Amino acid sequence: MRRLLAVSVTFALAASLAALPLAASAAPGGPAAAVGVTAASIKEPVAVGTGGAVASMDLNASQAGIDALKHGGNAIDAAVATASALGVTIPFVAGPGGGGFMVIYLARTHQVITINGRETCPGACTSSMFVDPKTGQPYGYDYASDQPLATGVPSMVATWAKAVSRYGNKSLAADLQPAIRIADSGFRVNADFRQLTESDLPELQAYPASRSLLLTRAGNPLPVGYLLRNPDLARTYRLLARYGPSYLYDGPLGRAIVGADDHPVTTPGQTVVALPGIMTMNDLRAYTARVQSPTHVRYRGLDIYSMAPPSSSGSTVGEALNILSGYNLSAEPRATALFHYLEASRLSYADRDAYVGDPRYVSVPLSGLLSPAFAATRRCLIHDQALVSPVAAGDPYPPYQSCPGQSSSPAASASPEGSHTNNIVTADKWGDIVAYTNTINFFGGSGETVPGYGFLLNNEMTDFDFAPPAAGAYDPNLPAGGKQPRSSMGPVIALRNGKPVFTVGAAGGSTIITTILQIIINHVDFGMSLPAALAAPRVSQTNSPTSLAEPAFYNSALAKQLTSEFGEQFTEATGPILPLDHYPGDATALQVLRDGRLEAIAEPVRLGGGSALVVNPSR
Ligand code: DON
Repeated sequence: MRRLLAVSVTFALAASLAALPLAASAAPGGPAAAVGVTAASIKEPVAVGTGGAVASMDLNASQAGIDALKHGGNAIDAAVATASALGVTIPFVAGPGGGGFMVIYLARTHQVITINGRETCPGACTSSMFVDPKTGQPYGYDYASDQPLATGVPSMVATWAKAVSRYGNKSLAADLQPAIRIADSGFRVNADFRQLTESDLPELQAYPASRSLLLTRAGNPLPVGYLLRNPDLARTYRLLARYGPSYLYDGPLGRAIVGADDHPVTTPGQTVVALPGIMTMNDLRAYTARVQSPTHVRYRGLDIYSMAPPSSSGSTVGEALNILSGYNLSAEPRATALFHYLEASRLSYADRDAYVGDPRYVSVPLSGLLSPAFAATRRCLIHDQALVSPVAAGDPYPPYQSCPGQSSSPAASASPEGSHTNNIVTADKWGDIVAYTNTINFFGGSGETVPGYGFLLNNEMTDFDFAPPAAGAYDPNLPAGGKQPRSSMGPVIALRNGKPVFTVGAAGGSTIITTILQIIINHVDFGMSLPAALAAPRVSQTNSPTSLAEPAFYNSALAKQLTSEFGEQFTEATGPILPLDHYPGDATALQVLRDGRLEAIAEPVRLGGGSALVVNPSR
């Protein structure tokens, strides 16, 4: 029900100071300030300099990454330090209860590798787990997202441990220290934190453990300016630092997670939580974060690397770029170029929904989806008018047909997917680069805090399709025991002549892919600086009858031209939670400038702006 909430965007310190949270320490605020890590900086969306760089949604989290870099850590250590700190400061989109995908450029070996740290469905999952046995119909997406049943095996800690042990300079224990300091010392609740709390309020209220951590005694959002400490999460990180990931995957923390998921303790009278989880200790013991090969396509002389399935980002961004390679976007009138971008996205999304799932369970035709020859069979469907969605998937198996006719498909089955997560980018003085998209899914995950451990559990399993598009039809993304749901998360690292040029990643559920695509074409084809490319108004086409457009795009002359000349239709990206539903996700990026300096880039405006920092600022 969270999207039906009316949320005030005016946040005041005037909220009752008497309404202190039960377990978290709160204190009336002076000016909001970063504490707990080294000297507080000012939140800036762009930073240029040397010695390493970090960009994330949050100043404290970026500062944690910079601390790791300053203490001998590399980009991998910085990414883990930033992600674990984000679990403290923005627990609604990050933390040990979730999962994600890390794309890494290793300077020493000139390799791009990826880590698949996606949650798995417990062994007892079945293809009909999100079908209501009483009606035979799939549950509503929001209803299912609020249930412990939607929690997958938390995979974040396994990802951090694998990344650091294989590629870091330091240890997991060292990389968790900045987050521990922030959790101990506290941080100031800001407007974004409050807004995220509002968006998940009924779910948080449904659990005493979430109420006592994140709400006032009366069950309201914490006021802006409060100093929020999380001693439970500090203790959790200390235990993980001391005992390693087995404390979760085969130890007391795991038992607490399984207990919370399967036997949730709820607030008397709550009406949100109805379907307990089905997780076991064996599910946790079986979890492994896996090193995978990246996807790769060539685009305008760049080598574009991203995340392979079960992420759909690498294949969908790659296919769309292959389609766009057939047009000279930089020479086209802007409306024509954007028409080609929208149609390439539309067609690629049809293929994503039809073919991408967990490759350990279904056969994913990845080489076909990434083949320029297959892209040619999709490009030739684009003429001078918008295609009618849902368009049918293509046939990504060779030999490719020369130009099959366009047909429409049965209603797409893809689940609606939530719209928020986070992307972290880091770089170090040795030339390593990390882009890490991670989440607990829909704002606040399932809403359930693991009692005594100070973090929220994910609700990532609603990224599975709840039912096939038609009875008995093939669907690569149905739930199964041990399976990973398809994801849109997957940042990109671009190389030219073997050297990293830029990286970009985004939040925003299914709009992650289009945000990355649009930033790439803004920068590479339209010649915008990377900060301008990231800030520009977004428009997202995901094989829907209309494209989701931010207000600045929706109201632009270009949008009107796209409608009158090309038949493109738009929906204004707006919603009751402002500005969270007002735009397709927030992004971060980083580039290596010609002189070797690093430029870290975060959002200037969306979600109140992110934080870019460098070790040695040069201006
Ligand atoms: O994996 C995915 O694609 C989504 N679960 C990404 C997370 C996201 O944007 C969550 N939305 N609330």
